Amino acid sequence: MNVKVGQSMKSVSLKTENAIGVFDSGLGGLTVMKALMRVLPTEHIVYLGDTARVPYGTKSKEAIIRFSKENVTELLKHNVKIIVVACNSSASHALDILQKEFPLPVIGVIGPGVRKAVSLTKNKKIGVIATQATINSSAYNDKIQESAAGIRVTSQACPLFVPLVEEGWFNGPVTKSVAETYLKNIQKAGVDTLILGCTHYPLLKTVLTKVLGRTVKLIDSAQEVSREVKRVLEEANLTRRGKSQPSYKFLVSDQPQHFQRLAKRFLGYNIHHVERIY
Ligand code: DGL
Repeated sequence: MNVKVGQSMKSVSLKTENAIGVFDSGLGGLTVMKALMRVLPTEHIVYLGDTARVPYGTKSKEAIIRFSKENVTELLKHNVKIIVVACNSSASHALDILQKEFPLPVIGVIGPGVRKAVSLTKNKKIGVIATQATINSSAYNDKIQESAAGIRVTSQACPLFVPLVEEGWFNGPVTKSVAETYLKNIQKAGVDTLILGCTHYPLLKTVLTKVLGRTVKLIDSAQEVSREVKRVLEEANLTRRGKSQPSYKFLVSDQPQHFQRLAKRFLGYNIHHVERIY
């Protein structure tokens, strides 16, 4: 596995006991954290949700890059050995820059999702749904074209999905009707594989399957990136060896109580302490 690391890698000591650092624009990245907890059950994890500046999906490239760098800088204060960019909008605009500028492995959600989609498509028609920022970056399309020739990609920004998920409207008639509208072109294109290119979308799998039918395979980036993180830690000899329970730390830039209240929707269990930073 080829991990690009920054120049100062040599001067930083990454220890097996250090945590996995995950950041997202807000709550949605908890879908990635949940998958990491399942795939790497002994690892400490520090999660940073930039709740003061969410959403990133409507922001400019420059703003997303600045926020992403600040998030990594913050996570480095918490003894992390690897960074997971859970936010697709960040990964699509800032991953290369973070990999160049920071002295530890930085993994994004896009590559792993693309590899899985490319391996599964039979008819070579892949759909991508994501925030406007991610679609504008063309990161998924570019990565797909790099990985395999002759694949037709149909992309669709679905900006209303994030607030619907934040409201807990995963599966009602309003969400179904919004999904039907957004997915018209994807359906018309006849894709057999759909990349869920946003942290929030795995929570909409049921409604997406209702609209598209069971034959369209849904690619959950959260699962794919977790496997990639496992591989990278193993290859770098950075897997935690301790047998004691792992610790999970939650940091947010605003409204810790709100984060704590909604976290259960994404993680499936209650969290008890959320720290405010910045
Ligand atoms: N986390 C963002 C993403 O995956 C979705 C929410 C936002 O727009 O900030 O693109």
